[in-house]
Amino acid sequence: MVGDNEVKVSFTCMDDGTEEEIQLVMGIAAPYLQGQMLGNLLELLKSLRGPSMGYQVDRYEHSLQTATRAYRDGASPDMLMAALFHDIGDGLAPANHSELAAAILEPYLDDEATWVVRHHGVFQGYHYWHKMGGDRNARDRYRGNRYFDSTAHFCEAWDQRSFDPDYETLPLEVFLPTVNEVFARKQRLELFGEEDAAVPANS
Ligand SMILES: [Fe+2]
Ligand SMILES: [Fe+2]
Repeated sequence: MVGDNEVKVSFTCMDDGTEEEIQLVMGIAAPYLQGQMLGNLLELLKSLRGPSMGYQVDRYEHSLQTATRAYRDGASPDMLMAALFHDIGDGLAPANHSELAAAILEPYLDDEATWVVRHHGVFQGYHYWHKMGGDRNARDRYRGNRYFDSTAHFCEAWDQRSFDPDYETLPLEVFLPTVNEVFARKQRLELFGEEDAAVPANS
């Protein structure tokens, strides 16, 4: 178990760490934390099980159903993961759940799938905001963006339709091979201030 191997640095403030010490802790912590990521992500998804809050399905079934529709439409692995995990922010960031999900998924997904997740909330609004006093066309601020149409499609064809208890929703197990493939990829993340730096997922 990490932390029990008796190897410890002497610094208590990062400014005081030697190069060897910084590289030591980073070499231990990075793979440890990466190794926990997928389990935590799946737990977050499963945590959406619970009350349906007036809908006919709960948030977990909504997520699986959204992914099922994407799967049956031949979505790419990245877009399939966007569909499966797009609402994982619901329980932590109800006011900006799209942004939270995008931040978690961004290092693993391509630009299009990340953009779709990040903006699906406002695009989903096209399907109901006008029924509660809002502007269904709020998404129009993104007209001209190269991912506008795919985000509109994500919501129209998959997300906004996935509240149907009679739909033949596939179980999580069907998506696990793609989950394992996508989240074992090299991550794209900020490293030394650079975006899109490639960092091995398991090293
Ligand atoms: Fe959502
Ligand atoms: Fe959703």
